Amino acid sequence: MARTSRTPTATEPVREAAGRAGPDIADPGLAEAGNVRIEWARGAMPVLGLIGERFAAEQPLRGLTVAACLHVTAETAVLLRALRDGGARVLLAASNPLSTQDDTAAALADGGIGVFARAGVDRATYYAHIRRALEPGPDLVIDDGGDLVAALHADLPGLVANVRGGCESTTTGVIRLRQMAAAGALAFPVVAVNDTEAKRMVDNGCGTGQSVIDGILRATNTLLAGKTVVVAGFGACGQSIASRARGLGAQVIVTEIDPVRALGAVLQGFRVLPMRAAAELGEAFVTATGSRDVITGEHMAVMRDGALLANAGHFDVEIDVRALDGLAAGVRREVRPHADEYVRGDGRRLLLLAEGRVVNLVAAEGHPAAVMDVSFGIQALALGWVASAAGSLAARVHEVPGSIDAEVARLKLASLDTQIDTLTPDQREYLASWQRGS
Ligand code: NAI
Repeated sequence: MARTSRTPTATEPVREAAGRAGPDIADPGLAEAGNVRIEWARGAMPVLGLIGERFAAEQPLRGLTVAACLHVTAETAVLLRALRDGGARVLLAASNPLSTQDDTAAALADGGIGVFARAGVDRATYYAHIRRALEPGPDLVIDDGGDLVAALHADLPGLVANVRGGCESTTTGVIRLRQMAAAGALAFPVVAVNDTEAKRMVDNGCGTGQSVIDGILRATNTLLAGKTVVVAGFGACGQSIASRARGLGAQVIVTEIDPVRALGAVLQGFRVLPMRAAAELGEAFVTATGSRDVITGEHMAVMRDGALLANAGHFDVEIDVRALDGLAAGVRREVRPHADEYVRGDGRRLLLLAEGRVVNLVAAEGHPAAVMDVSFGIQALALGWVASAAGSLAARVHEVPGSIDAEVARLKLASLDTQIDTLTPDQREYLASWQRGS
């Protein structure tokens, strides 16, 4: 069965051509609404606020051009304004057209940021926008999923030599970059912001659980208590989804391919099954693996009537939507916001949320601003570090210096009015000594 796209296509080439000189956004008239939304997010982002003030005073990015490919949300706007205040010229393309907030895009464009993002654009326009954000020739890049860095190397190789380095936000992007580096294809240093302890704990491990459940509830208004929820992947994201679903009273089954992670799930009291077995039992399925074909036609064929399918992984390849199309005799689009009902020949229904794309960003608003405060606080400081240290960094994936992770965590704790202990001199000496006798 052919999938009917909800995204506009026919007018896009015309708009692209017309908008060549300036930003490409849906409606500049939305700027005021966007500013209200950004101001609300800013209120929950004290760490980024402090970093923005420091950047404004110290100008660590003065004269540099930053090309970013990020979800166009209010939280991203707070980050980009901090970079702009730090002296950078900033260009932005969306990392997922379905999560783009058109009012935020308008407010950013109004504030001097080069925005190439409209909600719901098709694949060709998505890549055209990334290209346009790159064309001025960045000194620094920020990516979320690796598409911008890949496009820069593949399509605009002449611009690569100018790039000092960049940051990557998510698990999937870091994996791609490591593959590029291993193949000798990565031309500049990139910092794996995703891999810091604070980011993985707060963002993947806390924000994802809440916002994925939020997306499922907004799209379906279903009662999770008593439901059997299958979570595929027990990494940082899967663990937080599983624990939040359990907290709401669901019976949670975990699927894994890694024995250590699977053991962790068992020891936390989750039932662990192969997907083929879980498929028969689940009433709701959430994928969070970063891999592909995690839920296939074989699994869908045995699922219960009414089962809902949602994806939290970065790319829309975890649920085989094509197989779902093939199995269905009919599709009822948008039976609820961001929920399509696929009806099988025997009448059994499967509900696909957000077209199999990242559910918390499409059907909800992504992570709360208080979560992105930490992720983007690390992002801002890491970018400043790359800008200053780039000459001494090899063209590979680098870890964020531990001091940045600790500083952001300290600032966040201070904003939460939480104090912690510090090591005494005796404790410091004890921990530094191999003679632990007394
Ligand atoms: P991770 O690497 O910590 O965990 C992924 C887990 O999935 C691993 O334990 C792995 O063994 C397991 N896995 C891989 N293939 C599997 C399969 N076929 N069946 C079952 N389990 C499988 O990754 P993390 O940080 O949990 O991220 C997962 C995905 O979520 C990535 O694509 C990441 O980019 C994305 N992400 C999404 C966010 C959101 O807001 N929706 C936030 C942060 C990350």
